[in-house]
Amino acid sequence: MRVLGIESSCDDTAAAVLADDTVLSSVVASQDDVHNKFGGIVPELASRSHIRNIAGVIHKALEQAQVTLDDIDAVAATNGPGLVGSLLIGLSAAKAIAFARRLPFVGVNHIEGHLLSVQLHEPVAFPYLALIVSGGHTSLYWAEELHRYRLLGATRDDAAGEAYDKVAKVLGLGFPGGPVIDKLARTGNPQAIRFPRARLKPYRGEDSRFEFSFSGLKTAVWQYVRDSGMRVPENQSPETAIEPQTLADIAASFQEAVVDMLLDTSMAALGHVAATRFVIAGGVSANSRLRQRAQELADQHGFRLHVPPMRFCTDNAAMIAYAGMQRLQRGERDPLTINASADLQL
Ligand code: KG4
Ligand code: ZN
Repeated sequence: MRVLGIESSCDDTAAAVLADDTVLSSVVASQDDVHNKFGGIVPELASRSHIRNIAGVIHKALEQAQVTLDDIDAVAATNGPGLVGSLLIGLSAAKAIAFARRLPFVGVNHIEGHLLSVQLHEPVAFPYLALIVSGGHTSLYWAEELHRYRLLGATRDDAAGEAYDKVAKVLGLGFPGGPVIDKLARTGNPQAIRFPRARLKPYRGEDSRFEFSFSGLKTAVWQYVRDSGMRVPENQSPETAIEPQTLADIAASFQEAVVDMLLDTSMAALGHVAATRFVIAGGVSANSRLRQRAQELADQHGFRLHVPPMRFCTDNAAMIAYAGMQRLQRGERDPLTINASADLQL
């Protein structure tokens, strides 16, 4: 079965062709240049960019897979959660193709795409604990089997990726913040500044909640920069500019706090459900320190760690095609009247 997958839930326009378990193509048009000067995603600009990019991205995905629409058996597109104006572009394009070509169609939950993205690389047996950590989400799921996912907890405020992006803005590092801070942190001292870690006590009752909070940490970094009399690069003068080494130390210390919080809560959840497999997915799973520290814990405690390859960590359509294919293979179909839903639940 060949599935055309389409994803446009946030700021990446993506299309992919999947033939059974093989990714024939995965094309992503980033909008980083559009949002960079704002230090975050501007929803209206995101949907306009999706409109400009969508047709070209789909053509490119077909071309790279060396197929035409005649070779496509079904179409899958993200229908939520995300920015509704963004979601509508990819979803409408997918529905138009399915209608014109009389192809089966399914809508895909973006989070399920991330949850299953690791399967594009290697088969990971259920059940597994999954930490979905991106610019929009920080959630722990107990993936019992395909289509059976139990939410164990999520962030109460900012997502971890959002904290990276906001701290990068404070430090004048541009958008998105994750990759820049990750790189900068390699030359910094993670113990230089002791930023606070929010530790929300997990309940261990039936309604277990393993929650996160990142907004206090973000504010602590901002206060640190302000109280030290430093200025971000845009408006720095020689006396107040942040020294390169200080900048690297702030980046490393902030990152260490994020990784501590993500892994502490994940380890508590891992013990609670007695998981032997731990999956980390979503944009922040590209983080080198998170991967390294998670692997150390896996070696120490004897569980298996699975992280998708870099290109399937951040938003992509191959994971949407994969999640869609699982539903299509079970004979599921969605009507073309299906709508985009900003807060679609898994
Ligand atoms: O999954 P994704 O592409 O989009 C969402 O669904 O949000 O994730 C994007 C997020 C951004 O916040 C970005 O700063 C973060 O992932 N990110 C990283 C890294 N690469 C991307 N965060 C930390 N370290 C990285 N290497
Ligand atoms: Zn995502």
